[in-house]
Amino acid sequence: LRLVVLVSGSGTNLQAVLDAADAPVRVVAVGADRDGTGGLERAAARGLPTFVCRVPDFAVRAAWDEALARLVLDHAPDLVVSAGFMRILGPAVLDAVRVVNTHPALLPSFPGAHAVRDALAHGVRVTGCTCHWVDAGVDTGPIIDQRAVRVEPGDTEDTLHERIKVAEREMLVDVLTALAEDRSWR
Ligand code: GRF
Repeated sequence: LRLVVLVSGSGTNLQAVLDAADAPVRVVAVGADRDGTGGLERAAARGLPTFVCRVPDFAVRAAWDEALARLVLDHAPDLVVSAGFMRILGPAVLDAVRVVNTHPALLPSFPGAHAVRDALAHGVRVTGCTCHWVDAGVDTGPIIDQRAVRVEPGDTEDTLHERIKVAEREMLVDVLTALAEDRSWR
């Protein structure tokens, strides 16, 4: 399964996919919305093609969306994985290719960019992560898989997020392996 992975941060989810040697998935390129992210460095370390598509470089959002779609489609992906990509994808991308996203909360609870902080602030005892198909909304597409993660006493946003990311990486590799083996979603 040919994957283009979109990242904005450290790229540990990407790393898990790169390291999943026995999974029938192949990352063919990694894209980011900003320069110098850990995810781009992890891709470069593997000699993978990378690209950056920055929102401020475009006069209007639709132009960014179209430019990103071209950069993604240049690599002929079967699937795009948004792993910590912090931008809402527009129709140019979503109409051209299926996109899977990972989110560090049990959707529909705690959508948006501060899911871990929001769950902690709400005082939940159990949170987790979700893998879902991306649609035009924010964290609203059909759910593919979820993993539960307990909140521990004394957890901070960082300690909880790190614990979630352990489960998230396993979930993502399992989901991508399943999507590679059963392509009825295409
Ligand atoms: C992940 O928890 C992702 O769900 C969230 O940001 C984190 C990205 O982590 N949106 P990384 O860049 O994959 O390490």
